[in-house]
Amino acid sequence: MRGMSGSERIQDVIERKVREAYESVVLEKARGRVRDPERAVKVLEKDFKLVVDKRLVTLVYAAFLNGRPVLFEGPPGTGKTEIGEALLELWSGKKPFILPCSESYDEYKVIGDFHPQMAMKHGFNEESFIPRPLLAALILDTGVLVDEVRRSNEEFQNLLLDIVDKRRIIVPEIKRVFRARGTGFQVVMTSNPEDIAQNELSDAFLRRVIRVRFSYPSPHVEERIIRLKLDEKPLVGSEVMEIVMRVVDKLRSSTISHKPGTAEAVSWVRLAQAIARLKGRERVTIEDLAEAAESILVKRIDDEDVVVEVMGEYLSAKAL
Ligand SMILES: Nc1ncnc2c1ncn2[C@@H]1O[C@H](COP(=O)(O)OP(=O)(O)O)[C@@H](O)[C@H]1O
Ligand SMILES: [Mg+2]
Repeated sequence: MRGMSGSERIQDVIERKVREAYESVVLEKARGRVRDPERAVKVLEKDFKLVVDKRLVTLVYAAFLNGRPVLFEGPPGTGKTEIGEALLELWSGKKPFILPCSESYDEYKVIGDFHPQMAMKHGFNEESFIPRPLLAALILDTGVLVDEVRRSNEEFQNLLLDIVDKRRIIVPEIKRVFRARGTGFQVVMTSNPEDIAQNELSDAFLRRVIRVRFSYPSPHVEERIIRLKLDEKPLVGSEVMEIVMRVVDKLRSSTISHKPGTAEAVSWVRLAQAIARLKGRERVTIEDLAEAAESILVKRIDDEDVVVEVMGEYLSAKAL
């Protein structure tokens, strides 16, 4: 064995397939682990452009130490997916897998499947088995972000919890049990409880996860987030920022169906900045902000009247 390269040393067929298919993606631009919450907060801001409270990082890391899955719950655009992804990466030092849930998710889609022709010819064995992301994450010792978990069915949710709980995946068809070898294999799930079209999470499920509530940031924090993501020029002055904060705040407490998250606040100012640039301006004006507003803030025709009214309230007062 000595002197052989990494891939030659791998005797296990499944592990070799996992490495061939997924390892390069997982190790892409790999940075070291950052398991100290205080340092993580700094790296999140600097490298990921994410503003995350130290208490949140500490709670998530504590859940990981206890081997418990974490559930991020809150309205759209509050950073659940991006923060989950980033924390999994900092914890394991490798890129996590993202599973965007749908009703049809099952073990074949996430653990592994059989190549139909090969299975016909050679049977359901390791040669015809195709490993999928959840198994790959366990083997490669990295995290999994299960996005919008309410869109999956209860059977899938229970399967997932059982795997995280016991840190192993059983594939009966090939008579194999795969066990996690390190602590990098962790699961963060996201969900938006206000989305009525989605499945309810069972009591058993909620009992087993560490739930972390996400909400809209304070105006002060939100301004910091937006500023992190802006280009240096054209300049965005504090007056423009204040209007943004007020409008999004008002819309969040209004009756519109698609309330703006931090994501929309960021997109709005960035679009206004691009408009100002195209006009050759040095600074973003309230007019630029107004021009960008509807395209970002109105997601449904039904919401249009309210958005226009709120915009008028804050923009005309300032523009005049
Ligand atoms: N705390 C935050 N720090 C930095 N950016 C944030 C934060 N919260 C939201 N965002 C912005 O919102 C965008 C969408 O976030 P996302 O993770 O998709 O939200 P969610 O999953 O809650 O819908 C991000 O790209 C980012 O621009
Ligand atoms: Mg999301």
